[in-house]
Amino acid sequence: MFARQTDSLPVPGAEALAQSDALTELIRERIVAAGGWLPFDRYMELALYAPGLGYYGGGAMKFGRRADDGSDFVTAPELSPLFATTLARPVAQALRDSGTRNLMEFGAGTGKLAAGLLNALHALGEDFGTYSIVDLSGELRLRQRETIEKLAPSLAHKVEWLNALPTAFEGVVIGNEVLDAMPVRLVVRKLGAWHERGVVWLNDRFAFDDRPVSLDAQIELIDTAIDEANDEESFAEYLTETHETALGFTKTVCTMLTRGAAFFIDYGFPRREFYHAQRATSTLMCHYRHRAHVNPFLYPGLQDLTAHVEFTGIAEAGTETGADLLGFASQARFLMNAGITDVLDELDPADVKQFLPAANAVQKLLSEAEMGELFKVIAFSRGIPGTLDAFSTGDRSHTL
Ligand SMILES: C[S@@+](CC[C@H](N)C(=O)[O-])C[C@H]1O[C@@H](n2cnc3c(N)ncnc32)[C@H](O)[C@@H]1O
Repeated sequence: MFARQTDSLPVPGAEALAQSDALTELIRERIVAAGGWLPFDRYMELALYAPGLGYYGGGAMKFGRRADDGSDFVTAPELSPLFATTLARPVAQALRDSGTRNLMEFGAGTGKLAAGLLNALHALGEDFGTYSIVDLSGELRLRQRETIEKLAPSLAHKVEWLNALPTAFEGVVIGNEVLDAMPVRLVVRKLGAWHERGVVWLNDRFAFDDRPVSLDAQIELIDTAIDEANDEESFAEYLTETHETALGFTKTVCTMLTRGAAFFIDYGFPRREFYHAQRATSTLMCHYRHRAHVNPFLYPGLQDLTAHVEFTGIAEAGTETGADLLGFASQARFLMNAGITDVLDELDPADVKQFLPAANAVQKLLSEAEMGELFKVIAFSRGIPGTLDAFSTGDRSHTL
């Protein structure tokens, strides 16, 4: 039995705890095999994706509205079908403007976004082809298939699951809250010297341990950005992340995209804002039963680990492949431009049971205090002349 790092959060059941113990043992072995110290991104990768045991590799509930249904967090497509219905409009425009027909979604969660997009594109009269889903989580595939068969039965035959990416893809790519679920390296500048934060096994539990690290391109970039963004303000300690996995992923997707567009929706900031004085303790967050906290060692495999997206890096990674930056906007602006209020207007206000939750969800998706400002949409394209209506106002590409 391991010493548990439980904080004051709800305690999981015996089966879940056994799974977490098995993952703890696996990671402990990896630490030993690595000579006693594992970089944090390797820890995060195992905690999220170790087959059968990691948070996304195992059977945790993950998405849902409330802690008492066993879920940990809620995403926009889970909040309301209006998100998918609205997103379908720019997706349809991108298909039309690029003359392509196929769709590909990364990290499709429960399948609600896929089902909603299929139904909405059909309702818009789009003659679309295949909807391919790529997910690292085998367990979620089953849930996705069930959801799509239930919510979009006549269109489910268009959906396929890919085990590997094609070398080329023409169509529209979508990824909601996928970039934030990618492993990050933790790096810390202490009195001017950079260290990498890793994980060790100490006194029967995981602990952080910082090691001096030589400067690489990513760290140098951060070093400069911190100094520029903070007016030479010096920090005793500045902890942040580098996002190599998300950058590599963006490059791969934009290279694969030979014609069409790729939309990524996620929380985060441009580089100057990301490496700001107020964020000197990193954006790494843990979600367990709708409580956010900062202990990544709590119940490994049973809680979500996530970090904010550094959108300037993502924009550079995409455009380095030759793709165009189609736009960068707050989620609120993007959804407003895409017509979310028209979509809401199509509902009957007298149907209180349907209308009230929809109106509440729209408020959450748009409100500056909720998801409207923190969440951004970044999009890349090839072969689309001009821009999309959804980026017609409030495009913040210049801030990247
Ligand atoms: C926070 S969940 C978001 C799920 C869903 N898009 C939603 O909004 O509800 C992150 C998802 O991204 C997936 N994911 C992470 N990295 C991935 C990658 N490289 N390729 C495909 N899926 C990935 C995870 O398996 C997980 O299903």
